[in-house]
Amino acid sequence: MTGRGALIVMEGIDRSGKSTQCKMLVNALSKAKSMKFPDRTTATGNKIDQYLQRKLELDDNEIHNLYSKNRWEKEKAMLDDLEKGITLVVDRYAYSGVAYTGAKPGFDLDKCKEPDVGLPQPDLVFFLDLKVNTAANREAFGGERYEQTDFQKKVYANFLKLKSKEWQVIDASRSIEEVNHDILNSVNNILGKVEKKPIGKLWA
Ligand code: TYD
Ligand code: MG
Repeated sequence: MTGRGALIVMEGIDRSGKSTQCKMLVNALSKAKSMKFPDRTTATGNKIDQYLQRKLELDDNEIHNLYSKNRWEKEKAMLDDLEKGITLVVDRYAYSGVAYTGAKPGFDLDKCKEPDVGLPQPDLVFFLDLKVNTAANREAFGGERYEQTDFQKKVYANFLKLKSKEWQVIDASRSIEEVNHDILNSVNNILGKVEKKPIGKLWA
């Protein structure tokens, strides 16, 4: 019998290359699935999508809790997959939830963590480290809410405050191949190590 899969999370500001790296990582692994948050396909995700496109106004607390609910909806499916030996590669997770809401006036990072306490604990978190000015040079930010330089700088600073022992900071200003190479090395290193390890609970 083989052990469980690993829970791997990709975090970073907008345009740091998360989606590209998630795709490459899933393709390189033999038993892996990709996921992304927000998952815009569910009812909560649809509401988040409307909010991001500015078609819907929501209170800052309400949208914060909605992002969290959008993750809790997937908890059972995630645990089932991990137990089956499937490695999950997740594009954004609760760290984004805290870093983005925490960039709004009047929000405290520890308080922002509360709704996500107890979610499956990632085994490895890659922080794709790219300065906001570099990200903005890559391609113009889109028109969605939060896609502004000043806001992204606050988000970036918040991410650095959330760093814990599972985090690996990756210099994302390098080529796609170089970044992928580092990520693959780290993932191959931990796959065997987590097989027999129970899945922990985030921030619990
Ligand atoms: P994003 O990953 O940029 O989606 P897409 O790849 O479809 O453009 O996520 C949309 C926005 O949502 C992004 O600006 C970050 C923000 N966000 C939060 O504010 N809280 C959260 O919990 C998550 C997961 C994302
Ligand atoms: Mg985006």
